Amino acid sequence: MGFFDFLNKNITKLLPDLSIIGTDIHSHLIPGIDDGSKSVEESLMLIHELYELGYHKIVTTPHIMSDYYKNTPEIILAGLERLRRELEILKLPVTIEAAAEYYLDYEFQKKIGTEKFLTLGDNYILFELSYLSPPQSIENVIFNLQTNGYKTILAHPERYIYWNNNFEMYERLKDRDVYFQININSLSGEYSPSSKKTVETLIKKNMVDFIGSDLHNMHHIETIKTLLDNKHLIKLIESGKLLNHKI
Ligand SMILES: [Fe+2]
Repeated sequence: MGFFDFLNKNITKLLPDLSIIGTDIHSHLIPGIDDGSKSVEESLMLIHELYELGYHKIVTTPHIMSDYYKNTPEIILAGLERLRRELEILKLPVTIEAAAEYYLDYEFQKKIGTEKFLTLGDNYILFELSYLSPPQSIENVIFNLQTNGYKTILAHPERYIYWNNNFEMYERLKDRDVYFQININSLSGEYSPSSKKTVETLIKKNMVDFIGSDLHNMHHIETIKTLLDNKHLIKLIESGKLLNHKI
């Protein structure tokens, strides 16, 4: 073994993997039903990559959005079954389940209390907001969800740039027992510089409960790989505060 092989081997060993996180709680891996994976082959490749990063459980979360992705629990669960059959061929020791990433539109609000939502773990529901304009009635919606027994997880709070310079809104949501799930890739700055700054502040202030890949494609995997030695990511993982293992 040459010197550089030796060096590479040992540098690789020093980089942390993501096995301490255990479960990835946010991704788009049911083929062809949202803006994530486009085929079974792509899904299998992405799942294999998550396994290589150290994950042993994946709860994939397709978009449910009344304007763009009219997915239903039936569509999502049928896609999951198809994916599970294909996964058996790979014989990877990875558990895959499905829930959803609910967009907080009017259709969603109408369903609270009347329709059973797809949840993660012990009744956690993952929801997202508009990237363009602040939601009007978020506190009412959260209250309705919580009184119906759901534990609310806000997907990537750092990506709502209208709140990036208004930390009070994040604190108000935390006061209302909203769990925060950040995206690993927000630490790269590829979504926006202000999301990167915000995610770092959320970590510093101990306001992060869950971390997710929000994996849509191979590009996201490549970005995650560049972040494995990111000091904020390591601080968060080592804090012991992440709740991913509960899912
Ligand atoms: Fe997502």
